[in-house]
Amino acid sequence: MSEHPASSAASASPASPEAPVPWPAPEADRHAQAEQQLGTAGVAYRTVGGDEAAAANLAWWDADADDYQATHGEFLGDADFVWCPEGVREEDVRLLGDVRGRRVLEVGCGQAACSRWLTAAGAHAVATDLSGGMLRHAREGNERTGVAVPLVQANAEHLPFAPGSFDAACSAFGALPFVPSLATVFAEVHRVLRPGSPWVFSVTHPMRWIFPDDPGPLGLTVTQPYFDRTPYVEVDDDGEATYVEYHRTLGDYVRALAAGGFTLEDLIEPEWPEGHTRTWGQWSPLRGKLFPGTAIFRTHRS
Ligand SMILES: C[S@@+](CC[C@H](N)C(=O)[O-])C[C@H]1O[C@@H](n2cnc3c(N)ncnc32)[C@H](O)[C@@H]1O
Repeated sequence: MSEHPASSAASASPASPEAPVPWPAPEADRHAQAEQQLGTAGVAYRTVGGDEAAAANLAWWDADADDYQATHGEFLGDADFVWCPEGVREEDVRLLGDVRGRRVLEVGCGQAACSRWLTAAGAHAVATDLSGGMLRHAREGNERTGVAVPLVQANAEHLPFAPGSFDAACSAFGALPFVPSLATVFAEVHRVLRPGSPWVFSVTHPMRWIFPDDPGPLGLTVTQPYFDRTPYVEVDDDGEATYVEYHRTLGDYVRALAAGGFTLEDLIEPEWPEGHTRTWGQWSPLRGKLFPGTAIFRTHRS
């Protein structure tokens, strides 16, 4: 799940997209290893092409993989399907329906805990991710649990599977925030799914874009226009992207799904559970009680 310290966005002026904001941001320590390794020096809002975004995000997720797993591994479990920082579990909500005997594709799997849960639930799951670093943790998870989920290194924009290979597809905060075109990923997912198959994915709720990525009171003040789709980009000293994240409005998702041949069944906005005290990056009880942090789109291939 993305938890990037876009808190620097608080001070970045959307009116001057080319002017990088000095680094480090207030909460940059969460990703210190990746930022140091990649030489992250500032933040900018600017357009980013697909190749630059893919290269930056591959390098970033490789560099951040150990920190991500160290920070979130326990919460995510080894063979558990957690949709979001609010702790919604597939075990309880069954958004994918009955997966027994189904071929299920996971997109942007990270350490692949979701795919191991799916396997334990009787599915034939295949876990894919762009990052070799994240897949290394997935392999270690396979070895720890003895649940040998097939792992495939692949960009969600180019899924290496034949048409109609899967009966369901899912993604928990994987890939979609990091690719320039929803249409490209939706077209690929559509191609590899059988007609009628579920495609369920969770992303940061689009309304979070307007606030700094801060779990505390600073994260309650609007600093960024909801309608500005200019990507959030971290850059090194040469201005090269080291991390890219894209914003879409709720309407953008709905239109891309319809245009991509998917039927939207539900949009789940999980409420912050009573007694849930765990902060995940910008997700916190304080903010979670006031506005949604996650959007889960439940769709099927029309
Ligand atoms: C926030 S993590 C989510 C991982 C896991 N689903 C979880 O809940 O922890 C995002 C994942 O998306 C992967 N990713 C980023 N861009 C991608 C792309 N273009 N194609 C496939 N995976 C991508 C990253 O490598 C990372 O493992």
